[in-house]
Amino acid sequence: MTGGAFRPSFVCFYSFTFLCGLKLYIIYLLISNKLVFSLILQINLNLFVLNKKVEEILNKQIELEASSSHHYLAMASWAESVGYGGTADFLYLHSDEERQHMLRLVKFVNERGGKVVIPSLKGGEISFNGLDEVFQSLLEHEVEVTNAINEVVHVCLEQKDYTTHNFMQWYVSEQLEEEALARSILDKLSLIDGNKGGLYLFDRDLANFKVDSIANEPNE
Ligand code: FEO
Repeated sequence: MTGGAFRPSFVCFYSFTFLCGLKLYIIYLLISNKLVFSLILQINLNLFVLNKKVEEILNKQIELEASSSHHYLAMASWAESVGYGGTADFLYLHSDEERQHMLRLVKFVNERGGKVVIPSLKGGEISFNGLDEVFQSLLEHEVEVTNAINEVVHVCLEQKDYTTHNFMQWYVSEQLEEEALARSILDKLSLIDGNKGGLYLFDRDLANFKVDSIANEPNE
């Protein structure tokens, strides 16, 4: 009788212990799975989020491309106001191109999970002493942009960000062309040497430069 009474409580005790153990094991599995899940998520985020140094220098480049667009817009407006219609058309288009360069960077940073800082712009120079000064200023600005792009490429290699490095190669080639274009325009102005007839023809011919320039733009 005593053994029979003992057996049910023994079974109950072990069943209770077993169930408690099972519950604890399930809770452990849930927690550990959650930890594994968050660990996987963290690894994925680290893989896809843009490196901070690269993000920072790309935002600087966004600002520089925006300032180029603004700078060339001021030049175009000045050229238009003094009667150089062909030069104004060329520079308006060049300003639009620079905005496209900025947009490509903005979209790239967003696609890579980075944070874009849209820059506020300072007022551009609005008065020039002649076309030589305009295009000298344009060349100096392009050289500054080339140096900045080289720096972006350098940071990409330093941070082993080969995707951004690859993306930036288009800008490297583009800068070669833009600097060459600015130099060839300055060479022509140097030959004209302020001659009014020459400046008239120069202004008329500058419209042809813009066709080449558009043809080199990438397809979005
Ligand atoms: Fe986008 Fe002319 O630099």
